[in-house]
Amino acid sequence: MVVFIRYCELVIEILRDPRRLRPILGGLKQFACGYSPKGESVGGNMSARYCYSVWLRHLVKIRQARFLGAIHSVAELGPGDSIGTGVAALLSGANEYCGLDAISFLRSSANLLDEIAELYSAKTDIPEEFPDLLPKLDTYRFPLEYLQADLTRNLSRARIGRIRSAMANLGVNQGEILIQYQAPWHEASIVRRESVDVVFSQAVMEHVEDIQLTYGALWQWLKPGCIMSHQIDFKSHGLSTEWNGHWTYNDLLFRIAKGRRPYLINREPMSAHLKAVRQQGFEVLDEVLVGGPQSIRRDQLHRRFKDMSNEDMSTSGLFIACLKPVSSRPSALAPAGGKNNATVAGEDVFLRPVATGA
Ligand SMILES: C[S@@+](CC[C@H](N)C(=O)[O-])C[C@H]1O[C@@H](n2cnc3c(N)ncnc32)[C@H](O)[C@@H]1O
Repeated sequence: MVVFIRYCELVIEILRDPRRLRPILGGLKQFACGYSPKGESVGGNMSARYCYSVWLRHLVKIRQARFLGAIHSVAELGPGDSIGTGVAALLSGANEYCGLDAISFLRSSANLLDEIAELYSAKTDIPEEFPDLLPKLDTYRFPLEYLQADLTRNLSRARIGRIRSAMANLGVNQGEILIQYQAPWHEASIVRRESVDVVFSQAVMEHVEDIQLTYGALWQWLKPGCIMSHQIDFKSHGLSTEWNGHWTYNDLLFRIAKGRRPYLINREPMSAHLKAVRQQGFEVLDEVLVGGPQSIRRDQLHRRFKDMSNEDMSTSGLFIACLKPVSSRPSALAPAGGKNNATVAGEDVFLRPVATGA
């Protein structure tokens, strides 16, 4: 009887929005046949212009948030199909890049290096042709003033050669260049504590299963006085006709749609991210909210989300730039034994002018 009632509930839920049928069938198929990421493409990272645009948008936004410290080491959460955004970071002057993903979607991206180097060499403006790409900028002109060191040095044949070798030899130092990639990653300890100047992600934080745990790991990786930036997409990722229809799914339906994937979307709204980063001890330097059109009504929300604020209900995207303060209070969320009450070991890089060149 209970099974029959659940079955009827399920059918009613699906009929409420026929667009739900596709993800539900997709999830059911995975329960039957298993899930494989093979051949799946998860973003835009196979395009050199996309990678260049994503990295430069983050770079501009974090510089505009007054992070002027040197950027030697960059980590990216969820690079997806390639490490092209990391390559863009290296070509802008960083020496180390670490990509961490939940699943390896990595495909061969050797061609991206020359293509991205060519974009820098031509001082190409930040590409705008990706209609859904955020964050938006005030100007898309080539941000020479925010690059590190000197363009000629960054793009020297010898240095590009070292980046090429590092791409072919992940985890092995090539001169001053080091590229690391880990998928899946489970432990914060995978990255050396307080070793990273910038952590960023593009369309990833809406997917991570546990946002507090993840922001906690990013906190551990960042040096004090350093910064993280995230563009987060709160839309339903095809689960419903309305952009915010995923907040109407009941838990069973959502579980079925997720199938056997290790993640789908976490359905955390904007305020949950802001709360998690602040609880961790980060200082939010910049937040840019993107509003979605009014669509689902409050009475359509699943009861788990019924207390959601109007602002959360209407926010479809968020960019945040967050500082790990130099003298930070101990993080309430740090794992036992963690030394998150960071005192500065070394120089205070925040607000220190960066050398510009070329
Ligand atoms: C929509 S794709 C975005 C890929 C890429 N950033 C881009 O802009 O094309 C989401 C990515 O987040 C990754 N992801 C999901 N959960 C994650 C986690 N807990 N840690 C790291 N990456 C995660 C996925 O594997 C996938 O690569």
